[in-house]
Amino acid sequence: MAEANNTTVTLQVHRFTPRAERAERARGGSPFARKSSPFGGGSDSAARRPRGKQWVQEYTIPARPEDTVLDCLMTIKRTVDPTLAFRYSCGHGMCGSDAVSINGTPTLLCTAAIRDWAKQPGALPQVDDEGFRHIGDETADDNTNAEAEASADSTDDAAAHGGSLGVIELAPLPGFPPQRDLIADIDPMLNQIRKLTPYLEADGVLATTSEGKVDVFEYLQHPDQLAKYEMLSNCIACGVCEGSCPVFAGGDAFIGPAALIWSSRFINDSRDAKAMDRMDAIDTADGVAACQSVRACSRHCPRGIDVGEEMWQIVAKVRER
Ligand code: SF4
Ligand code: FES
Repeated sequence: MAEANNTTVTLQVHRFTPRAERAERARGGSPFARKSSPFGGGSDSAARRPRGKQWVQEYTIPARPEDTVLDCLMTIKRTVDPTLAFRYSCGHGMCGSDAVSINGTPTLLCTAAIRDWAKQPGALPQVDDEGFRHIGDETADDNTNAEAEASADSTDDAAAHGGSLGVIELAPLPGFPPQRDLIADIDPMLNQIRKLTPYLEADGVLATTSEGKVDVFEYLQHPDQLAKYEMLSNCIACGVCEGSCPVFAGGDAFIGPAALIWSSRFINDSRDAKAMDRMDAIDTADGVAACQSVRACSRHCPRGIDVGEEMWQIVAKVRER
């Protein structure tokens, strides 16, 4: 962050503090206490609704157009409000730990520049209490792009003349139970990925030397075979695609695009010996059958994976088997 600058940005942060009973259980409260979920029982959708205190807090701080939203949150945490909770680690788009909803769009805090996201007051899209942007029709993406361009112009004006760069609205990643402020519990996604054995299962036959000793393990692969899954192996399990998916984030039973990407990564790996088992595992009502090909999952993958296209291909592969 610059030492001195004459521009500011306003962050409207959706904050959340869970009910005290939850914190009590996390500390190992009485095992005889009433067992009610802090996120409610019943439907999956209801289970993802937060139970606790929710409010929107506004922070206006000095910022430059090229600063990231993560830079701004760290400034707030260090100089304004140490109680604000958010998660991050690498700070440059590699770990996937800081996915949130920015102006209703799931994305990473550390790669979101103020210039690209700040909007003039009143221009923010309506975001519902589950963090979804209200989209009226198919032109929503075009409108979003036009808004982004207009917003970048006004941000450049502010940078040249001083004043407010605009307003940015932040909420936790949609589709996951919020834990505190901008931190969502992404365990449901990680558990789904774990269930699909996200590691190489090769044939396990040991190569041996002419003397019968175990030789170096070697799984040769042609560059064309590598190209089939190399892009998929870039997934950092950030959850952006899951938060963008109206089926997963909408609360329907669906293992989610991230888990399918991880499954697809190994199904397409020529060294893996369990492709058929892997396809059986996702050939379920809440697996590939639940994907409705909306392709919202493709729009903001920070690793450049065309998630919707990969979904399409894995669905076809499972059906053709
Ligand atoms: S496919 Fe992309 S958006 Fe989805 S979890 Fe992986 S890196 Fe994130
Ligand atoms: S902090 Fe690691 S991806 Fe943003």
